[in-house]
Amino acid sequence: MAIHSSQDAQEQPETPEEVSRRAFMVNAVVTMSGIIGVGLAIPIVGGLIPESGSGAGSWSPLTHAELTELEAATQKPVKLSFSMTTKDAYLPEQTMQDYVWGIKVNPARFQAARPDIFNGPGGKADVSYDVVNMSFVVFSPLCPHLGCRYDWDASTNKFLCPCHGSVYNFDGAHLAGPAPRGLDPLPLREQSGIAQIMWIRYQSTTPDRIVISYQA
Ligand code: FES
Repeated sequence: MAIHSSQDAQEQPETPEEVSRRAFMVNAVVTMSGIIGVGLAIPIVGGLIPESGSGAGSWSPLTHAELTELEAATQKPVKLSFSMTTKDAYLPEQTMQDYVWGIKVNPARFQAARPDIFNGPGGKADVSYDVVNMSFVVFSPLCPHLGCRYDWDASTNKFLCPCHGSVYNFDGAHLAGPAPRGLDPLPLREQSGIAQIMWIRYQSTTPDRIVISYQA
């Protein structure tokens, strides 16, 4: 019986069958990796892509007391709280509290004050919904610079962002600081006497309003 040393075994050429079997195994591993990768990527990417169209999100009601306060407010904005239902790709549906800022406006004066919103042909808004409704405008509470929460400063009658000092007037127009645009308006509507708002998150740091996500 011939006995080969381990060195002899390494030096022996592989048979065509062995080469073909190894190539098959390598291809099978690569194919399986690709299938698993695509399977993981679809829900992750799906969670990042916002639904398109103005009807993509859902509406949250404001309380009657908040609407009454907004109707009475002519010189100062009103912080309006609401319950929002959110659903992420992998997380269960959850309800959380948030707020927006509401102001009462003269529509023509507001349009003149916010050229960054009404910059489409014929002064059309750069968003797909009516910015002014029932003579009210509702702003996202997130600063368009990097998304901090700004506040109303009654001593200066301005919105101030504490993070990097962006300043906005009552109409939400950008006055100072690094923010790339004025405050972002959100959809507001009235249904059977109840005011409702929709949460939309816009891209920060860009002059254009790019939707990142809708309220689910
Ligand atoms: S996040 Fe508001 S100024 Fe930077």
